[in-house]
Amino acid sequence: MGRGSRAAAPLGALPLLLLLLPLLPPSPSRALTPRISLPLGSEKRPFLKFEAENIFNYTALLLSKDGRTVYVGAREALLALNSSVSFLPGGEYQELLWPADAERKQQCSFKGKDPERDCQNYIKILLPLNSSHLIACGTEAFSPACTYIDVENFTLAQDKQGNILLEDGKGRCPFDPNFKSTALVVDGELYTATASSFLGNDPTISRSQSLRPIKSESSLNWLRDPAFMASAHIPESLGSSEGDDDKIYFFFSETGQELEFFENTVVSRIARICKGDEGGGRVLQQRWTSFLKAQLVCLRPDDGFPFNVLQDVFTLTPRPEDWPDTLFYGVFTPQWNGGTMEGSAVCVFTMKDVQSTFSGFFKEVNRETQQWYTVTHPVPSPRPGACITNSARERKINSSLQLPDRVLNFLKDHFLMDGQVRSRMLLQPQAHYQRVTVHRVPTLNRTYDVLFLGTGDGWVHKAVSMGTTMHIIEELQVFPAGQPVRHLLLDADRGLLYAASHSSVVKVPVANCSLYQSCGDCLLARDPYCAWNGSRCASITLYQPEVASRPWIQDIEGGNATNLCGPSKARASVPKGEKPCEQVHFQPHTVNTLACPLLSNLATRLWLHNGAPINTSASCRVLATGDLLLVGSQQELGLFQCWSLEGGIKQLEASYCPKVVDEVTGGAGRSGSVPVIINTSRVSAGNKASWGTDKSYWTEFLVMCALFVFAMVLLILFFLYRHRGGMKVFLKQGECASVHPKTRPVVLPPETRPLNGMSPPNTPLDQGYQALLDSSPGTRIFTESEKRPLSVQDSFVEVSPVCPRPRVRLGSVIRDSVV
Ligand SMILES: *[C@@H]1O[C@H](CO)[C@@H](O)[C@H](O)[C@H]1NC(C)=O
Ligand SMILES: *[C@@H]1O[C@H](CO)[C@@H](O)[C@H](O)[C@H]1NC(C)=O
Ligand SMILES: *[C@@H]1O[C@H](CO)[C@@H](O)[C@H](O)[C@H]1NC(C)=O
Ligand SMILES: *[C@@H]1O[C@H](CO)[C@@H](O)[C@H](O)[C@H]1NC(C)=O
Ligand SMILES: *[C@@H]1O[C@H](CO)[C@@H](O)[C@H](O)[C@H]1NC(C)=O
Ligand SMILES: *[C@@H]1O[C@H](CO)[C@@H](O)[C@H](O)[C@H]1NC(C)=O
Ligand SMILES: *[C@@H]1O[C@H](CO)[C@@H](O)[C@H](O)[C@H]1NC(C)=O
Ligand SMILES: *[C@@H]1O[C@H](CO)[C@@H](O)[C@H](O)[C@H]1NC(C)=O
Ligand SMILES: *[C@@H]1O[C@H](CO)[C@@H](O)[C@H](O)[C@H]1NC(C)=O
Ligand SMILES: *[C@@H]1O[C@H](CO)[C@@H](O)[C@H](O)[C@H]1NC(C)=O
Ligand SMILES: *[C@@H]1O[C@H](CO)[C@@H](O)[C@H](O)[C@H]1NC(C)=O
Repeated sequence: MGRGSRAAAPLGALPLLLLLLPLLPPSPSRALTPRISLPLGSEKRPFLKFEAENIFNYTALLLSKDGRTVYVGAREALLALNSSVSFLPGGEYQELLWPADAERKQQCSFKGKDPERDCQNYIKILLPLNSSHLIACGTEAFSPACTYIDVENFTLAQDKQGNILLEDGKGRCPFDPNFKSTALVVDGELYTATASSFLGNDPTISRSQSLRPIKSESSLNWLRDPAFMASAHIPESLGSSEGDDDKIYFFFSETGQELEFFENTVVSRIARICKGDEGGGRVLQQRWTSFLKAQLVCLRPDDGFPFNVLQDVFTLTPRPEDWPDTLFYGVFTPQWNGGTMEGSAVCVFTMKDVQSTFSGFFKEVNRETQQWYTVTHPVPSPRPGACITNSARERKINSSLQLPDRVLNFLKDHFLMDGQVRSRMLLQPQAHYQRVTVHRVPTLNRTYDVLFLGTGDGWVHKAVSMGTTMHIIEELQVFPAGQPVRHLLLDADRGLLYAASHSSVVKVPVANCSLYQSCGDCLLARDPYCAWNGSRCASITLYQPEVASRPWIQDIEGGNATNLCGPSKARASVPKGEKPCEQVHFQPHTVNTLACPLLSNLATRLWLHNGAPINTSASCRVLATGDLLLVGSQQELGLFQCWSLEGGIKQLEASYCPKVVDEVTGGAGRSGSVPVIINTSRVSAGNKASWGTDKSYWTEFLVMCALFVFAMVLLILFFLYRHRGGMKVFLKQGECASVHPKTRPVVLPPETRPLNGMSPPNTPLDQGYQALLDSSPGTRIFTESEKRPLSVQDSFVEVSPVCPRPRVRLGSVIRDSVV
């Protein structure tokens, strides 16, 4: 014991070293800065908030067809909000309480769940079922149930005896409110993907509300502890020459069973089923006969660092007929931390790539070795997993019920595609994106996809995709810090974005063009919703080419704003009034600041004194905040101007004419024009060091770090040398412990939330995964130290006692190494 602790002491320095690593600056390629930051309460982008008293956890949002009602599913309640009135203070709304049954609550807490947190009814599904009813499913105190809502009068549907129609929600809605699930209604049939047991296992993809209910077969292990994020219906039958069927896609992340080296690797998936699937005749009765899944890959192009945990997917189909142009926008987070604090990534997948992956090779598993191989031998016909097409109908196979047994038996083990669906990474911000919704915005010349991205701490980023590059137009805080954006819903027709969190629902206009006050600003914003009409930055929806006296100007790609606005318009703008210069009064020998707030984070300031750049002197200096620090003295009089420089456009932001006035005479009567007098204590004449706000200590810091590291290494080496005998014994003990079969290793730091839940990004793994893997045969055992990434970039060294040669992970490639 004594030996052990002594030997461990120097290793305590390791976490310190690891702490230092994230300070290295990350590669800035796709980590863009939002151009404008608008924190909560900003007057520039006002929005409306809805909060019902005593109602929390706004989990589901649904917009009525006419866009005038927003249905909200919350904890124990359903709400119908009038989109114009309910968001105003004191605005009316309809409320429909749907509390979990008292008996169920009691059973729930009896089973060891938290009565306050878990044993409530959280609405997880709220969808339009048909013209007269919505369907809603809730967790009902760990005993899920579904019900119908009469849209006409917003009441729960009742049977003839007047009892509320309640159906079992098992297999449609999760038991645990923290679990993610997805659902959609196609032609009045409900497709759901969720965990369907109390413990959160037994994942099921099913179709209900249907005359032909079908589900996935759990004994076949088609799904490995998945977290379902999204689903989509693609009308692939439209215009199909081969008589193909519509398909339903599901997006989720799960344990990557085909990745042999890393048992706990999470992979993101796309799975699909055919809408017309009716199950098999003899084999796979009432089970999907078209279930196939493939891996979705979102890698950083520079170094192949994987963003493998899916958070959300938005399916953008312009018009049903144009389904081949569908884009799937996915938000991913990394399972491992590459050392540089990766936040999240946005990747886009095309329909063409999805289709070619699903028509490619299958994977198959060798039951003995549990290794996965590509199937290169011929597959039965009709192609397993394909929908019923004309060629099948020619062979008298009209539905999946008539599919030959050998096709279905093949499908039972061949549900994983060999190919991966590759993507293009659009953005890799530091922010933790969790939700995404996309709007294809028609502009003057073409359309652009505008992405609204909800973060884990209450912000919404608005970004425009220009094919290969992106630009983050603005970031807007809609919820207090710590409240994740749980849901985003776009009303494209009205130009509104709804966002939901634990405590409220907000309604934000997609843009505020009047925020941009000059032609230069309007163009630099690169906001597809706004264009310069010749005198103002106006919403593009107001543009009528026939009426407009001159063409409106827009420059989304950011090519050449200087050119478009013309020198006069781009430069001559003075934001607050046309007044050439603001009179400010100083007292002699006081220190004053002149403010120069810039709208854009991408702009740089230029202070001019009488038209010449300001030279730093003892009495005049630009602070790190961009404000000008000025000592009131006779020499400093003149005109001070603050210009912003961005994208080749130079704009006057502020202009001051300071005047030194004696205390007795000056200052009075000029409200608003007297600048703030800052602490004089900070200024001592001649002390240049205190002015050094622009100076960076980065180099010094690095040198100190290097010295520190060097000293620590020396110290460690010294200790190792001193205790080399003890170390040997200690290491031997460790080896024995991890090889012993009965010992449960400390696999991971304790993690209370299941993977399926809102696990924060970067959480390596979850209890759920672990539980599943522990019970499955062939699971290898890793210890804590084996899992800890040791290197800065995306390489991971695994030192396993079972395998003395460490493995290094580089991107998705795993190599043995002699590190
Ligand atoms: C838009 O921005 C302007 C300028 O900051 C502000 O005065 C106005 O209230 C905003 N309007 C809306 C509708 O957001
Ligand atoms: C419900 O909201 C509370 C905060 O109001 C939050 O702590 C809790 O995690 C939420 N629960 C779910 C299931 O979203
Ligand atoms: C919303 O409120 C407005 C004003 O009270 C009303 O005219 C409108 O009919 C309401 N809409 C719905 C869908 O109830
Ligand atoms: C909609 O579905 C509900 C519930 O299944 C049913 O009672 C109702 O009759 C349906 N309405 C229409 C118009 O089909
Ligand atoms: C709601 O409207 C439906 C018909 O639209 C009717 O059958 C039902 O009785 C009404 N419910 C209530 C509570 O008024
Ligand atoms: C398939 O459907 C066609 C018409 O839709 C019908 O003529 C044919 O008999 C059906 N075949 C089988 C095997 O059911
Ligand atoms: C729009 O198209 C016209 C002609 O096709 C071109 O001259 C103009 O530069 C384009 N404008 C923008 C903003 O791309
Ligand atoms: C631009 O729009 C504003 C208001 O939207 C309008 O007052 C102005 O006349 C327009 N200017 C031109 C040149 O169309
Ligand atoms: C913008 O256009 C002007 C005139 O056509 C040209 O001189 C300038 O180089 C262009 N700037 C950029 C960044 O393309
Ligand atoms: C600033 O310094 C430069 C060179 O040091 C000098 O040429 C210039 O005249 C100075 N400008 C002012 C406004 O003092
Ligand atoms: C002066 O300094 C104190 C403490 O450092 C600070 O609280 C105060 O806000 C400062 N005042 C101004 C005007 O900056």
